[in-house]
Amino acid sequence: MQVVILFIPPNLLPKKSWELIMSDLENHFGDDASLDEETNQDILSFLIKNSAETSTMEASWNFINSIGNKDIIALSKTEYWEKRHKDIPKNVFKNEKIKSIANCKACHSDIEKGLIEDENIKDISDFM
Ligand code: HEC
Repeated sequence: MQVVILFIPPNLLPKKSWELIMSDLENHFGDDASLDEETNQDILSFLIKNSAETSTMEASWNFINSIGNKDIIALSKTEYWEKRHKDIPKNVFKNEKIKSIANCKACHSDIEKGLIEDENIKDISDFM
């Protein structure tokens, strides 16, 4: 099986968003990330088994509610995300250690483990 690097833990996005992402990997955020059919199905079932709906984490529920029935595949496009990051100065996201708002890990050190608790958030004054 090919190695696919996930920047977002499965438990932050609802089932529907994962289905949308996996059905359009040719256009995955500008990269061609397409896989053979079998691998794609394996990954999709893993993602669905661990999607936000299966999580007890508060952030998972917040993302589900914020996405609702909209076709959103990027966490940073949700109202919940915008609300939680609105106090962060825009130039912080342009810092060379961050580069993009999609680089969640720059600030949430343990995000790939699904952890976005306050104690795992870096001090953003380092990026100013
Ligand atoms: C520039 C650093 C930075 C980046 C990049 C960033 N965040 Fe955050 N995030 C923060 C900070 C700081 C807070 C805490 C805001 C507060 O409590 O006022 C936060 C809060 C959150 C929260 C709320 C946590 C809670 O317990 O209420 C979630 C969820 C979250 N971020 C997810 C993400 C995701 C997903 C991404 C990537 C798409 C991301 N963040 C990118 C800095 C960042």
